[in-house]
Amino acid sequence: MGESLNLLPAGFVDFRRDAERNLPRFLFDYIDGGAGAEVTLRRNTADWEAVQLNQKVLVDASKMDCSVELFGQKLAMPLVLAPVGMGGMTARRGEVQAKRAADAAGIPFCLSTVGICPMEEVAQVSDKPFWFQLYMLKDRGIVQEILSRALAHGVTTLVFTIDLAVLGTRYRDIRNGMAGGLGPWGKFRSGALDYALHPRWAFDVGLMGGPHGFGNIAMYVKQSRNPRDYLHWTGTQFDSSVTWKDIAWLRQVWPGKLVLKGVLDVDDAKQSVAIGADGMIVSNHGGRQLDGVSSSAAMLPRIADAVGSETTLLVDGGIRSGQDLVKALALGAKAALVGRPWVMALAAGGEAALTRMLTLYKQDMRTALGLTGAVNARDVGREVLLKA
Ligand SMILES: Cc1cc2nc3c(=O)[nH]c(=O)nc-3n(C[C@H](O)[C@H](O)[C@H](O)COP(=O)(O)O)c2cc1C
Repeated sequence: MGESLNLLPAGFVDFRRDAERNLPRFLFDYIDGGAGAEVTLRRNTADWEAVQLNQKVLVDASKMDCSVELFGQKLAMPLVLAPVGMGGMTARRGEVQAKRAADAAGIPFCLSTVGICPMEEVAQVSDKPFWFQLYMLKDRGIVQEILSRALAHGVTTLVFTIDLAVLGTRYRDIRNGMAGGLGPWGKFRSGALDYALHPRWAFDVGLMGGPHGFGNIAMYVKQSRNPRDYLHWTGTQFDSSVTWKDIAWLRQVWPGKLVLKGVLDVDDAKQSVAIGADGMIVSNHGGRQLDGVSSSAAMLPRIADAVGSETTLLVDGGIRSGQDLVKALALGAKAALVGRPWVMALAAGGEAALTRMLTLYKQDMRTALGLTGAVNARDVGREVLLKA
């Protein structure tokens, strides 16, 4: 994807606008959309917007510090790039570009099981560690092999996603034929015509950016050539029978940090602590799974009240700016993850655009710290919020 940007993006809406222009419709919708009527998707952003910061001035903001400690690692700001399946389709070798941008910004990148670039390729970017996200496969032998590869390639933190026992119904993907179906006109609309209308992407990613398989599992997926074959394979291999027993097994076999992603219930949060997970991500999968559930912003303070002192809490879903990062810290998270923002930025202008987006998050965060009197990210608590 070209590095030139017409209008300089100043925030998420601008990166999204440029991504929409550059990407084929089916791919933009796959990223942008959520499950069902997208009620939870909208709630995720609306509920962060509704959290009000309390302005406090004349507090010597000259020594601002956005950095935090997370799992023994220093982060330049409390932000992690969330695992995004097929994220690498938004720009040429997308996850490699994302890892470079994350390294430069001093934050972790988390690679999805169903990312495009294999962990071996991502590991070559630098010797800075990255995170790996795992979906449980029925074949535990393959899972163990994946974990050994991850360990060998410097993965320190394993994110295990627990909210995909069944796949959310995503209307946009159904309409675009991502979930199968489509008549002859639909196939043409989502294929040849869509590519012709987005020639830059078609050349840069479609033609030059291969291979387009799911790099981490390609060796186990025999005779699969395109994302549709891979989606079919994952549909048969993803294990929907996973319970806490499997988490206990994972805790035994994985020696690094274990983070459970997709906790949205106080009892589940307590169970995660009891089973020995090092942390959890309060998340509804970016509104892509069960439409109608609460936003992560609404659940975070309740979960923080219940288990915040016993674990490392992270949150994702609807975080769109540095102000949102401060709100997430205030409500009990140690850091937040973003999914759509980083892939939209990559689609907008590759690594350069993503680097710009991360700079904007940090600038916004500095403004929020400086004008709430918090100054140091490590000290942010509920006092930076307006009392109800
Ligand atoms: C296109 C897309 C693909 C995703 N793929 C995965 C995935 O492979 N594994 C996973 O655990 N979460 C996945 N997620 C969820 C994200 O990790 C994250 O929870 C979510 O995007 C956060 O919400 P946000 O996009 O509003 O920041 C995906 C999200 C999107 C938008």
